[in-house]
Amino acid sequence: MNKFLSLASTLLLTAGLSSAAKSYTASVVLENNQFTTDTIMPEIYGQFAEHLGTCIYGGLWVGPDSPIANTDGYRNDVLNALRELKVPVMRWPGGCFADEYHWMDGVGPKENRPRMVNNNWGGTVEDNSFGTHEFFNLCELLGCEPYLSGNVGSGTVEELAKWVEYITAEDGPMATLRKQNGREKPWHLKYLGVGNESWGCGGDMLPDYYADLFRRYGVYCRNYDGNHLFKIASGASDYDYNWTETLMKKAARQMNGISLHYYTCYSWSKSKGSATDFDADRYYWTLGKCLEIEDVVKRHATIMDVYDPSKRVALMVDEWGTWFDEEPGTIKGHLYQQNTMRDAMVAALSLNVFHKFTDRVRMTNIAQVANVLQSMVLTKGDQMVLTPTYYVFKMYVPHQGARVIPAHIDCATVKAESERSSRPRTVPMASATASEKDGIVTISLTNVDLDRECDMQVALGSLDLKKIVKAEILTAADIHDYNDFGQPEKVTIKNFNGATIKGSNLNVKMPAHSIVTLQLTK
Ligand code: AHR
Repeated sequence: MNKFLSLASTLLLTAGLSSAAKSYTASVVLENNQFTTDTIMPEIYGQFAEHLGTCIYGGLWVGPDSPIANTDGYRNDVLNALRELKVPVMRWPGGCFADEYHWMDGVGPKENRPRMVNNNWGGTVEDNSFGTHEFFNLCELLGCEPYLSGNVGSGTVEELAKWVEYITAEDGPMATLRKQNGREKPWHLKYLGVGNESWGCGGDMLPDYYADLFRRYGVYCRNYDGNHLFKIASGASDYDYNWTETLMKKAARQMNGISLHYYTCYSWSKSKGSATDFDADRYYWTLGKCLEIEDVVKRHATIMDVYDPSKRVALMVDEWGTWFDEEPGTIKGHLYQQNTMRDAMVAALSLNVFHKFTDRVRMTNIAQVANVLQSMVLTKGDQMVLTPTYYVFKMYVPHQGARVIPAHIDCATVKAESERSSRPRTVPMASATASEKDGIVTISLTNVDLDRECDMQVALGSLDLKKIVKAEILTAADIHDYNDFGQPEKVTIKNFNGATIKGSNLNVKMPAHSIVTLQLTK
């Protein structure tokens, strides 16, 4: 029996269906607790821009003299696309790059800025033409919060303290320098990351040592002239619960947030697999790995509860997304990967999980915004394509800042085997999330099944919804479909007419591998 057949038979067993079945049923119950005040923080929809490959240079920034249409050096097409997403926050300059970055090299006249080797990412030479001013001005153009990742690994306390002063002080030596460099008023800076992956590329530290360093850096990164820093400790990756435990034990009082990195990655030691060429087994395994983030977040949050029962400290998943092999023919170390309908599924399922943890998860940053890993946009010269992941973020915009309505789902599951892991992953075939803002209820539904339509029955309970005011679907003829230069609109949002309300029930006929967002009112 080949792999696909074994998967198919497991699927049929768990779903209890005959092989002829073309559809299955899933039921969702929306719990309309009027007293729920939990808000989906807009920052859950955060982005991440690192000096890596063509994320910054070519992706966001082409410089004011470029023939590519731009505003003060920022590509117009990308600016417009990101504005549609209402990007709430942007993390910069890394990632691993952050702990080798010396901010003074990126301010002042461009011709005087020194060059450096980007050791983490392919040894590319960085000319520092995109620096502090270019990043903060970008955030102002997009109307988003900047999230600065400070250099702890190879920097000094003085360097980071002065960076904060340069950005936020009204007066003083650093403010004078900023003014000389063309910016009179300070910028606003809320989110300050103290190092990145300090257990790895950010200094290879042990948790006790880093906890002390975090406290020390925290003392000297000051609040100037009404600016209030939200200090974020460099957190664990995946299943490193000891890191979270140590940091919370030693430094919870000094921090406002602690980060967590979780990638949907097949293997760190061997091939991560192709972004576009995968079989059914790998598809479901990928979704299972993505969904495991729920258990990982829960376990980190449980540790945090011990040291911070009032949930003052936020868990920021400031790197997440798919990580596949680089596209053949692209530069090694630049992490350029395509983005198929499978990536859209990972985005929707991950966001649905984040919505469940509004009490603790108050920011996430998908990696990364352009041309790197699970991007929103891909660029080549003057061309840009919007990825299927971009469209999920667009469909989910109404959830930003909305009150969460807990959604309980009952559906079939599929077991996906993997040659890597002895533990098969169990993947529910459907997923749902819901929220309410300004009298509009937004329901997002996902049918991950590769072959079968899902007859989704949503019990609206006492929500008393009568009208569907907007209905959109993202799907593709084939799960491997993606948008590329020359075929930029292969996977795109379409209007959806498969939903009907009868009394307090919403019926949604979802095609195979599709994502639907509905907006309903009384
Ligand atoms: O997003 C790519 C890299 O993944 C980041 O630089 C690093 O923090 C993580 O390991």
